[in-house]
Parts: sequence; structure tokens; C-alpha cells
Amino acid sequence: MMITYTEARDRLRRHGQEHIVRFWDQLNDTERATLLTDIEQVDFELLTGLINELVLTEPAPEYFDCIEPVDVIPPPEPGRPDADEALEAGEAALRAGRVGAMVVAGGQGTRLGCSGPKGAYPIGPITGKSLFEYHAGKILNIQDRYGCVAPWYIMVSEANHAETRQFFEEHDYFGLEPDQTVFFQQAMVPCVDEAGFMLLDQRHRLARNPNGHGGAIPAMVESGICGHAKERGIDILSYFQVDNWALNVIDPHFVGYHLLHGAEMSSKAHRKRKVRENVGIHCMCDGEYRVIEYSELDRFPQLLETDAGGNPLHFAGNPAIHVLSVDFIEKVYRNYREFPWHKAHKKIAYVNEAGERVLPQSPNGYKFETFVFDALRFIRHDPVVVEIHRKNEYTPIKELAGSNSVEEARRLRTQWWAEWLEAAGYAVPRDKDGRVLYPIEISPRFAMTKDEFLRKANSFSWPMDGPLAIGPEGEVETVRAVQSV
Ligand code: UD1
Repeated sequence: MMITYTEARDRLRRHGQEHIVRFWDQLNDTERATLLTDIEQVDFELLTGLINELVLTEPAPEYFDCIEPVDVIPPPEPGRPDADEALEAGEAALRAGRVGAMVVAGGQGTRLGCSGPKGAYPIGPITGKSLFEYHAGKILNIQDRYGCVAPWYIMVSEANHAETRQFFEEHDYFGLEPDQTVFFQQAMVPCVDEAGFMLLDQRHRLARNPNGHGGAIPAMVESGICGHAKERGIDILSYFQVDNWALNVIDPHFVGYHLLHGAEMSSKAHRKRKVRENVGIHCMCDGEYRVIEYSELDRFPQLLETDAGGNPLHFAGNPAIHVLSVDFIEKVYRNYREFPWHKAHKKIAYVNEAGERVLPQSPNGYKFETFVFDALRFIRHDPVVVEIHRKNEYTPIKELAGSNSVEEARRLRTQWWAEWLEAAGYAVPRDKDGRVLYPIEISPRFAMTKDEFLRKANSFSWPMDGPLAIGPEGEVETVRAVQSV
């Protein structure tokens, strides 16, 4: 049963936040119920701790005497003994049905100019297929290849839960079984002003934000996801962010390295192109394995050093691809009170004393978040970091144009798939500078790797005189919308 107004007010008063119910007398019954629900969901002990430690006192910035590059396993190549052994171990785990996939998709596609979930973004330049459809296609490919069922755990937030589910339903779960697609919701955390007071977004709603992708840890346990996985014999989860179109979703080599090292949480890294790139950096800080976020770079000048050729010395960029053991998620959850929180100074819409909603022009308060990579400080083994070739596995979609954009990702994927077609003997039309003339898409259900593509390609004859989208069975797919590349 919902808390009463008196209980809510007492709870707020104990934590110095009673101003939150100042419009109570003006609210109708539905609005009152909504406000009580919002208040009931607040973990006041946690929030008061965050206000005291991060807002009312300026925490001493972390300092490290020594920051060293982390040891990285080079990109796996066939014939290299460690890579072959890892592949064998990873494939065995997949065949045994021990591996699931997990995506964090709590963000909105606002920077991409769309109002819905980011995973619904129609990334395919010819077919308009969404990021979700591409990721699902890769899971189907893995399932066909290894004869397994890989449950897909999808973390959503309050803002996009209903829309994400509806998107999957409307698209028949992209060919997956509905019950292998499991949605779970991350928690929300109140935002506060610069003096540590909670804000109202509307007179009957708290201003809140999703608790960051680190919120996956408590949500996995509290929503029964870890239990769901264990009941199905899944003890390993392949973790990724919804905005990375190129990623492999589940990579047998990576799973294999994780297993062979007896790891709790493993990571992939890509070579940074320049020191100031919007990616975290995997590194060793006074002997402890950390990811330092790009927003912190200026506090750690060592991370800006370059070699004689101008390449970043700390090159291990964070594509946000991990493998986590289910037991490890439960372990971190048991110690979650020690999990670090971060504050972000932001513009937060709020209701003023006159009851009007104000959109501030400059930052007026703080949002609190946790980051999943901070779980790495809980591992009890040497770091397991596998380098990837960027073009194979990392085309994040953060903006519409420019670096790490939709435009760049479409161009890079087209170039990448053009190389597959050329390796199969096709003459791909290019301009005088070598740029591919027409966009290309290859369904991941047809082929996820160049080797797989080459094995299948000789049964087909594809036209090369315009945009080409190859479907799950190798058929030419219908053009829905052509975007230039
Ligand atoms: C993130 C990483 C950065 C990494 C880069 C790789 C952080 C703080 N940094 O940066 O180290 O190099 O990606 O592309 O994440 N999400 C949720 N719930 C939330 C917040 C985010 O599910 O509460 C999801 C988003 O839907 C998205 C992902 O997390 O899929 C990353 O969020 P985003 O804000 O885009 O992170 P970046 O700043 O790009």
C-alpha cells in the first residue's frame, strides 16, 4: 500500500526536504497519488549521503602518484595459440548455453533528434533498420551458429520502458522469442539544487534522472534478472551500450578470455585516435585498475601524453563492452553501498515558488549517477582487457554529424562491408578518391564476420550498380530510404 501524506511529509521533514509538498493543497487526487509514489521510491538514506558527500562538501579530488597503461591482449588473430584457445573456450560456453546478452538502453535519442528510445533509431542507411534490429540479428546469428538460446536483458528507464517494449512488440521481437527478451528498469534518483534541496519538475512530480548505467547492478538483482539467468544456466553476460552499431553483441573470443582468466569482469579496449576523444581510458592507478572518464582528463595530465608519433600513450579507449559473471554482479550488489557515485552539474527544469515551471539557462543543480565500469574496482584478479579493431566493433552513435555520429557510422560500415564484397570478388563502385559510391548494408543474420560472409557469398550474385542491402538469407532487401554515405 502507498504511503500516506503524513508518512511522506514526516520522511521529508526528517531529511530537511519538506518543501517538496508545498503545493499539496492545490493538487487533485491523481496528482497527489503520483507525488506520494515518487516520494515513496526515494532512498532517503542514500540521497542524504550523496548530498552531504558530493554537494555540501566538495570531495577531495582523487589523486594518483602513478598512472600506467593497462596490459592489453592484442586483437585475437586465428593461429595465435592464446586466441585459438580463447575461441575454443568461448564457443564451448556458448554451445553449453551459458551466455546471455545485456544492453543498457535507458537513454533517450535526444542528441539524435528523435524523441523515442535510442535503440529505435533507424540506423540502416538503406533499410532503415533500427539499432535494436541489428543487435537482435547478431543474437540470432549466434544462436544459429551454436545451437543455444541467449536471453537478452534490456535495461530501460522509466522514460522509455513502455515505448521500448512497444517497439519490440510492433517488430515481432525482430525474430527472437518474446520470452528470451527480458526488459528491466533502472531506478531513478532525485536531482537537487546547488544547496542540496530536492527539486520539483512539476508541482506533483520530483525532478529525477535515471541512476546511470551502474544502476544495472542493483536493477539486475532486484528485478530478478540474475535469478532468471541462473535458472536457465546462464552464468556469463555480454554487456554493451545500445548506441554501438558495429559491436559483435556476443564475441566467443572475448567470452573465452574471460573464462580462461577466471575473470569476474572483463573489458574490451580500442586504440584512441587522439588524446582528447570522448571515451574513457582503461588504466592502472597506483596499482588499481580503473576507467578514467574523458571529462576527468584535465585532472590527470599523464593521460594526455603522446609518443614521438603523436599517438596517445594511454591508448586503451573504453568502448563500453564487457563480459560479467552473474555471481560477480551479485557480489557487487552485496557491496553496493561502497559503489562510487558521480555528480553532474546540469540545467534542471524546476518549479519555482510561484508554481511555474522554469527551464534554466545555466546549470542550477546536480544529477547523481553511477557508472558500470566502476565495478572493475571490485574485481579480485588481474585486468582482462582485449583490444579490438575499431572498425570491426566500435561505431558509437552519439550525434547526427561529426565524430562518433550517425553519418560517420554509416560511412565506416559501408566501407567495411565494401571490403567484404571486394574480398568475394565484387567490383564495388568507388569515386576517384576511393570512397564507396553507394551505401551498403549486410544483415548480421546473414554474416557477422568477413569469414562467414566469404563462406556464403559464392552462392549469390548481387547487383553492384546502386545501394545494396543484403538480407538474412542473402536476398537483396527492399530500399526503404537511402541516406548518402
Ligand atoms: C560512455 C562512457 C565512456 C565510453 C563511451 C563509449 C559513461 C559515463 N561513459 O560515454 O567511458 O568511452 O560511452 O561509447 O558512460 N545509459 C543508461 N542509463 C543511464 C545512462 C546511460 O542506460 O542512466 C546508457 C545509454 O542508453 C547509452 C550508454 O548508457 O547506451 C552510454 O551513455 P552516454 O551518455 O551516451 O555515454 P557517453 O558519454 O557517450
